Amino acid sequence: MCGIIGYIGSETACKVLANGLRRLEYRGYDSVGIALMDKEEGLFVRKRQGKLIELESVVNKENLAAYHIGIGHTRWATHGEPNEINAHPHTDCALEIALVHNGIVENYAVLKEALKSAGHVFVSDTDTEVLVHMIEHYHKELPLINSVIEALERVEGTYAIAVVSAKEPNKIVAVRKGSPLVLGISEHGTIIASDTNAIMEYTRKVVYLNDGEVIEAKNDSFNIYDIDLNHIGKKVEAIDWDIAAIEKGDFEHYMLKEIFEQQSTVQDSFRGRIIPELGNARLDGLALTDEEISNIQRIIFIACGTSWHAGLIGEYLIEEYARIPVEVEYASEFRYRKPVLCKGDLVIVISQSGETADTLAALREAKARGIKIMGITNVVGSTIARESDGGLYIHAGSEIGVASTKAFTSQLTVIVLLTIFLARRREMTPQEGSAIISELESIPGKIKTILDDETVIEIAKIFKDSKNFIYLGRGAQFPIALEGALKLKEISYIHAEGYPAAEMKHGPIALIDENMPVVFIALKDDIYKKVINNMQEVRARKGKIIAIATEGDTEIYDHADYVIYVPATLSILSPLLTVVPLQLLAYHVAVMKGCDVDRPRNLAKSVTVE
Ligand code: BG6
Repeated sequence: MCGIIGYIGSETACKVLANGLRRLEYRGYDSVGIALMDKEEGLFVRKRQGKLIELESVVNKENLAAYHIGIGHTRWATHGEPNEINAHPHTDCALEIALVHNGIVENYAVLKEALKSAGHVFVSDTDTEVLVHMIEHYHKELPLINSVIEALERVEGTYAIAVVSAKEPNKIVAVRKGSPLVLGISEHGTIIASDTNAIMEYTRKVVYLNDGEVIEAKNDSFNIYDIDLNHIGKKVEAIDWDIAAIEKGDFEHYMLKEIFEQQSTVQDSFRGRIIPELGNARLDGLALTDEEISNIQRIIFIACGTSWHAGLIGEYLIEEYARIPVEVEYASEFRYRKPVLCKGDLVIVISQSGETADTLAALREAKARGIKIMGITNVVGSTIARESDGGLYIHAGSEIGVASTKAFTSQLTVIVLLTIFLARRREMTPQEGSAIISELESIPGKIKTILDDETVIEIAKIFKDSKNFIYLGRGAQFPIALEGALKLKEISYIHAEGYPAAEMKHGPIALIDENMPVVFIALKDDIYKKVINNMQEVRARKGKIIAIATEGDTEIYDHADYVIYVPATLSILSPLLTVVPLQLLAYHVAVMKGCDVDRPRNLAKSVTVE
């Protein structure tokens, strides 16, 4: 996914665009560019491969004070390799129109051929460039907004676009279909952006655009239309996060800040949702009647990446405590697999950003087949939140680090509450519920204990040059092993795999020798002995064992080379603790390897293209 931004107002556009692009850079950082428009000066375009700093080193030398209108883009490459030519904004043949785009034009090849035979000259390998030439084609006769709509009518795919034209130099036209777009209303002008992070510095007043909605923003006003250019009134909403939430503070990286925030974000996720005296959870927003809740026959979690791992843990917990069958689906596979859906199915989509295209497409597929949809998301007003029938915000605050951390533990916290909520309507007693809830209230303190322990840094020093890692866990710790491996892959680029510990002997054990670090999650629970057996199998092949163990377990040193302790807790809550040292291990290994932890190569915070 890319980040787009547009500004029109009294401020120096270049400044507002640069600040916005800095906040959008977690959406993609393959290239960056701006286009500024002024009646006298005309169109000014600058773009560079790589990060914003490359562009700033160029534009900061230029006097751009005259420009109060502009659009900008930070790229996550889909079509055409990351380079300056393929960077946005793209311009038309006459260098009068400039456009930025987040999304994919699926029928670009056909359109490109038609435009070429009509004499248009293409300079890039991107799908996006066809859009600006299409608009150029209609703009010969039609006003800008009509040209944009005429052009988009012939486009298959997804888009959030912003366009400026030298023929109508006092406006920006923007349209959304499939990719997120918000509008910010500030004292000094209008800001259009892919998400609220780019707007918060200037205003908290935002308008969320739906698919098929068109913005025409002028110096002192803006209008929003449907795709037939009927004027539509939109609700102005308030952003409830403060700017500090998206600052790094004293931390070197957003990822480390967000790992350390977990001692409070887990609390934020259960605040106001626990009823200790009844041993139950209060989950407003589910939008499910009592009858619908008791008629749930099956739950299907749908997600991608780290959110998918949260769904896997949901399967273990809900099946064990609420005795409801659960399935967990990769959104991209569910979307095209023709899944069998039945009456009594409840689909729960999990997405930190609420904008991941694969998950959104799966949601729409299930909804189209009459299934009730519940969303578990972090971003207020996100598309998944708005298109779900009901849902739960995880209240983890803005997550900027591309590798998800605090959102994961907040997703797990909400899934624990959902488990209690469903189980208390079945077998779970108020006492059992109260026991879990009072232990849940102690989790933030236990996370702090883990964060204060620096053993993991010493272990990172020892293994930072490893070429491979294996992570092993049993039960609900298997998804944690997957998550630990994913974190290491995402930010240190070391190949790592997660496996159910017992499954290791049916294949991956072939990989083990004295150079293979193997991380075991080996808590003192009812399958501890089984995990110890698996550790012995690794030790017999000289694998180097790092164990995540329960505080006070001294026996573990007979089986592991290195040990990171976590405080004891109930098994339903233990994934909230065991993941933290794995996040830190990946973080410290990546930092020691000199990797850009917050903007790891090839990744983006959430991918808004299928
Ligand atoms: C990837 C992110 O692009 O999308 C991961 O890099 C994330 O961190 C995954 O887990 C799913 O994103 P979301 O927002 O749908 O949870």
